[in-house]
Amino acid sequence: MRILITGANGQLGCDLQRTLASHELILMDIPTFDLTKSSCEEQVASAQSDLVIHAAAYTDVDGAEHQPDLAMAVNAQGTEWVARGAARAKARLIYISTDYVFDGLKKTPYLEFDMANPLNQYGKSKLEGERRALDLCPNSLVVRTSWLYGTHGKNFVNTMMRLAVEQPELRVVADQRGCPTNAADLAQALAQMLRVNMRGIVHATGTGDCTWYELASAIVSVMGRQNPIHPITTAEAGRRAARPGYSVLANRVLKQSGITLPHWRDSLVQFVKSAAASAAE
Ligand SMILES: NC(=O)c1ccc[n+]([C@@H]2O[C@H](COP(=O)([O-])OP(=O)(O)OC[C@H]3O[C@@H](n4cnc5c(N)ncnc54)[C@H](OP(=O)(O)O)[C@@H]3O)[C@@H](O)[C@H]2O)c1
Repeated sequence: MRILITGANGQLGCDLQRTLASHELILMDIPTFDLTKSSCEEQVASAQSDLVIHAAAYTDVDGAEHQPDLAMAVNAQGTEWVARGAARAKARLIYISTDYVFDGLKKTPYLEFDMANPLNQYGKSKLEGERRALDLCPNSLVVRTSWLYGTHGKNFVNTMMRLAVEQPELRVVADQRGCPTNAADLAQALAQMLRVNMRGIVHATGTGDCTWYELASAIVSVMGRQNPIHPITTAEAGRRAARPGYSVLANRVLKQSGITLPHWRDSLVQFVKSAAASAAE
């Protein structure tokens, strides 16, 4: 299959490249492929791929509060151009989206058809991207994931591994609950999804859920360190963007197709151990 990946150098893009290496891959990313420029539609259309995995995005959640227009330009207008290009090429489109489309007021895992109501600019721009992907490319699938981490890029797990070495004590938010998702696991699940003709919206996260505090505790424990970790509230963390207190996604549609991602704790143990081994080399 001929697969175009946008955001190919991002966190998920790097794992997609590895997982889908047996396919013919067309890799696109900024600066030669820029979602703020209408030319990206032609780039996608002329690539004549069978599938477009649109993983490129403006992903700075707090930054989007300062730059809502840029977040909307990249995540909504940019996605519109990608969707139009994919439709012209008669390609399937997979748009990667986020748990931050939800407001977190629900107390049980979010289903694919639950009402979205984003609390922050990033979530609003990603939700608008979902709508344009679904409206403009007849053969599109929205895959919502959450709390993504991988070897490449800035993410909570990499940050905590660094801080555990640099700082004697840590303070971590304990009143937000979600599903940590290893980017390599998501890439594997996406590869499985290609074999099933799915459309609409699918939730795809690591199995199980936890708070950021519980995730940090697990990271420090796997590292074999003793840093005391102090639970703090979202208000005490003082981040610019509001975040949902509960954004656990139920992977109901995925499970119905027989696809599951590993439990977050199992993936985390492997990830942290392998990062420690690489650092020791
Ligand atoms: N990270 C998470 O926790 C998380 C959670 C839920 C959903 N998601 C979604 O999952 C997808 C992949 O996330 P990720 O963590 O892999 O993100 P990432 O590492 O930030 O990668 C995104 C890629 O998009 C590129 N990009 C940014 N602005 C662009 C533009 N104007 N034109 C073209 N490319 C541009 C980035 O380039 P630069 O690095 O040069 O900016 C980067 O290569 C995104 O759609 C994101 O919204 C992420």
